[in-house]
Formats: sequence, C-alpha cells, structure tokens
Amino acid sequence: MYEIIDGKSLSMRLRAEVAAHTAELEEKYGRRPCLAVILVGNNPASQTYVRNKERACEACGIKSLMYSFNEDISEEQLIKTVNALNADEGVDGILCQLPLPCHISEEKITDTIAPEKDVDGFSPVSLGNLLSGKDSFLPCTPAGIIEMLHAYSIPVSGKHCVVVGRSNIVGKPAALLMLRENATVTVCHSHTKDLAEETRRADILIAAVGRPKFITADMIKEGAAVIDVGINRSEDGKLCGDVDFENAAPKCSAITPVPGGVGPMTVTILMKNTVKAFEKRFAEK
Ligand code: GUN
Repeated sequence: MYEIIDGKSLSMRLRAEVAAHTAELEEKYGRRPCLAVILVGNNPASQTYVRNKERACEACGIKSLMYSFNEDISEEQLIKTVNALNADEGVDGILCQLPLPCHISEEKITDTIAPEKDVDGFSPVSLGNLLSGKDSFLPCTPAGIIEMLHAYSIPVSGKHCVVVGRSNIVGKPAALLMLRENATVTVCHSHTKDLAEETRRADILIAAVGRPKFITADMIKEGAAVIDVGINRSEDGKLCGDVDFENAAPKCSAITPVPGGVGPMTVTILMKNTVKAFEKRFAEK
C-alpha cells in the first residue's frame, strides 16, 4: 500500500504556524512582513499561481503588494520597478513571476532583485550560497520537497535520488539540496541515454520535466518515493503531473498527488522565506 504525500494538508498546518508567528512579529516590530509580487502579461497559469500566492499571504498574515504590468512593459521599466522595491523599507520580499515575455531577460530581472529580498531564491547570490552550503533563501519548490520528505519521515541519507529535469528553478537546486541531505544524486535530462534505466535505480524519484504523465510505472522501482513537480493538462483537459499517477502509485511506497502535492508546498516555503527576510532585516537594525 502506498502513502499519499499530502502537500495540501501539510501546507495548511505550516501556514497556521506561520500566521501565529507573524502575529507575534507584528506585536514585536509594529508591522507584518510584506511581499511584493510582480506579474507581467496575462499568462493564465502565472495568474493562477500569483492568485494562490496572494491568498497564502492573507492566510499567513503577510501583506502582499501586487504589481501587474502589460506584456509590452520594457525591460528598463521593469528593472526600475524592481530597484524601487529594493529601496522600499516597507517591502521585505520581492518575487517576479516567471516566465517573462521574450523581450525581457529573466536573468537580468532576477539579478536585479536585492539578495536580502530574494525570497524566490533565484538570484546568483542565493544560488551561490546554496552551492556552497551557506544559509540563504532556498528556491521554494526544492525546499518544499525536502520539507515533505522530512514530514513523512522518508529517509534520504545514503539513498539514491534521481532528479529528472535540470532547470535552474527546480532540477538543479533540488539535486543540490538532496546532496546536502546526503543522498547520492543522479540528474537526468533530454540527452540522458537510457532514462528508464536511470529512474529504475531511484529510491527517491523527483520528476520535474513539464510533460504530462511522462514517467510511467515501468520507470519506477518497487517501493520508491516519488515526488511529482509537474503541473500539466492532460488530453482530457484535467490537471496532471509528470508521473502517470494511477499506474505508478501502486509500485511506490509514497507519492505526491497533482494537484495537492508539491504546488501548495512551493507557496508555503515562499511564505516562510518572506518571514525569514523580514526577521533578518529587523535583526540587522
Ligand atoms: N514560475 C514557475 N515557478 C515559479 C516560482 O517558483 N517563482 C517564480 N517567480 N516564478 C515561477
């Protein structure tokens, strides 16, 4: 029998803890943490993610400031906005929802966000800190995965973890975090020769490919823990992950559902990072 790793209910528990903590912080410092969220264009998925982030802020007692721009905003204008938020004493965290339109360099924008406000953990400083094992803002999805593994007492140390996907947002930082947890890590990607052979060796399989039901039951070792990062639409229009859940689940010891697995945890870590940014700024005063 497999266990469902319920990211939604774990998130609700953690968000209640964050809300209790922000209430204490408001007592102590006279204001709540504040997250600025930048959204460019009208990508429906990005709009949904941003709405979820605003709702989570509300549930956690975090103030959210929304900055919505048309698709045609210039890179220069967006950089100016980020710089103004960097200088704003009332803003603790800044997030620019990705992807951005092609005429804007995502790298330039994430590089502009001040490291002390980089609650997404995408800036070169945050990623460098992650690489060298220093305390930093961890990218939200990989950090959420680690929290779920811990919460469900899934052993990581000495286990073989296979990460499928090598994006800067998920695959690469997830591999680094699993390494930090003493897993033996393999990273697979589109040039991997025999993907199924690699994934079948995984005690913990992290799928971050972005293709619906790409990981099939035959690619999974009996008893593996499977973390599905994908949020896709299947042919019938339903939300589904990168893993063929229905057929794969009976082979697993534990598996995350989509929706209700990794997604809510990503947002919850964003909340925790925002509170951390707030506390660090006040501690330095
Ligand atoms: N686009 C997809 N995932 C993310 C995320 O975690 N943060 C931001 N800013 N954009 C994203």
